[in-house]
Amino acid sequence: MFPDTDFTQTEAYKLLGVHYNELCNVRMTDLFASDKDRFARFSLRQENLLLDYSKNRIDSKTLELLLQLADECQLKTAITAMFAGEKINRTEQRAVLHTALRNRSGAPVMTGGVDIMPDIQAVLQHMKRFSEAVIGGDWKGRTGKAITDVVNIGIGGSDLGPVMVTEALKPYKNHLNLHFVSNVDGTHIAETLKVLNPETTLFLIASKTFTTQETMANAFTARQWFLDQGAAATDIAAHFVALSTNEKEVAAFGIDPQHMFIFWDWVGGRYSLWGAIGLSICLAIGFEHFESLLDGAYAMDNHFRNTDFAVNMPVILALLGIWYHNFFNAATHAILPYDQYMHRFAAYFQQGDMESNGKSVSRSGQQLDYTTGPVLWGEPGTNGQHAFFQLLHQGTQMVPADFIAPAQSHNPTGVHHDLLLSNFFAQTEALMNGKNADTATAEMKQQGLDEATIERLLPYKIFEGNKPTNTILLKKITPYTLGQLIALYEHKIFVQGVIWNIYSFDQWGVELGKQLASGILPELRSTERTQRHDSSTNGLINQYKDWK
Ligand code: F6P
Repeated sequence: MFPDTDFTQTEAYKLLGVHYNELCNVRMTDLFASDKDRFARFSLRQENLLLDYSKNRIDSKTLELLLQLADECQLKTAITAMFAGEKINRTEQRAVLHTALRNRSGAPVMTGGVDIMPDIQAVLQHMKRFSEAVIGGDWKGRTGKAITDVVNIGIGGSDLGPVMVTEALKPYKNHLNLHFVSNVDGTHIAETLKVLNPETTLFLIASKTFTTQETMANAFTARQWFLDQGAAATDIAAHFVALSTNEKEVAAFGIDPQHMFIFWDWVGGRYSLWGAIGLSICLAIGFEHFESLLDGAYAMDNHFRNTDFAVNMPVILALLGIWYHNFFNAATHAILPYDQYMHRFAAYFQQGDMESNGKSVSRSGQQLDYTTGPVLWGEPGTNGQHAFFQLLHQGTQMVPADFIAPAQSHNPTGVHHDLLLSNFFAQTEALMNGKNADTATAEMKQQGLDEATIERLLPYKIFEGNKPTNTILLKKITPYTLGQLIALYEHKIFVQGVIWNIYSFDQWGVELGKQLASGILPELRSTERTQRHDSSTNGLINQYKDWK
């Protein structure tokens, strides 16, 4: 059974409240000074991935109490239930088995009394054959030419994962040009089509439901463009494939069911890059590299399932997040990769985290009286340093941050990587140490400033410090380590959802806007004045109609 515990009613939560009062004014620098083994004590390794969480406002007791919290919330039971294929997504009556897509053990995975591994293997084999044919030039377009360009049309989970991974793994890319169209703004598809040759373009229509308005609008526009260039309906088979769970709608669109890569309702959209939705990844980097991505995620799955919580990376990251969000009231959390190829990583996990844990009703149907799901955001360093880091260092809000960097660059040009990493290490140190009045005064004296100027500027030159960070250092960003990293964050989200006692795998919150938009669409197309809304919405719609 999936647990249903109000975490604020646990013994650990009460003890953490008391402990927070003891620890909230303690400085991390003092914790380091009094414990020379702090780095060793509060860091973890999994293969070529190192998590240093020593620069957090915690001591051994904090960790002990957070682990007690995990136990009281029956985290172990919840993990077992997920991997066992129980229908833990109860609001949609579905199992949550994206982990089965990367189950590399050969062992069966059961849900509803059925082993789902044979179907998963069949789709993987289909992806292998297809991607090899396209990459190798054996898959021909309607005029007999090989494919040069691949366009993935999808949105949300059917876009963000493939975009993020293909960008992160660009060094592994082959000759195919990849394009991603997601926005229903016609500009996105129009600008993409401008550079394409219909004879050598392959469209992947990626949609779990195959009913998503944005994706279907873009798919129909792409199909029309293709037909307008002299192709016949029978040519669609060579240029359009579908990645979906909905065979009926795929067939209705005109795609040959043989060219459909299926997945299943137990794969959440934002957890779907490991199967059919990952076809664009396979095409970009080849099936072997895609398999390495799965291998890395599988290694993290095993770590998560089998490792004691005290040394379990996803569990530790999740508990630290709860510590800051629910005790220090940190409303946001930053993910800051120091790797240009990882520039979409935070955007990807904005959906992963916020669509999963942006919930306000408990698993027993009660309105929550505590907060869940911090706003997640981030940009690559060092660019972020010249944009929003001012607020991290001297703003009024606490923003816990994860700093992620590879030790080895794919582009070891001159001094660049050492420059990058010197910033990477400096930032977490600066956020922790800050700068006190004595140091700031001494620096200004050295610059030759007079006493009056020093006194006037001093308050602005002080850095409070004591800002918490995690550092994730990877040996190198490879398909394997990226797989580990993505799975690490996926499981962190899961653990937090268990502790907050919410359903992390539905997304009803995106429905209302969709419903209203479909009601407004006919109004935008009619000549009648709109009157049925509030005066603001009526006024805006009518102004739009006047101007359009
Ligand atoms: O934004 C809501 C959502 O349902 C996401 O959860 C999903 O990833 C996205 O839309 C796309 O859905 P589909 O793959 O069905 O087109």
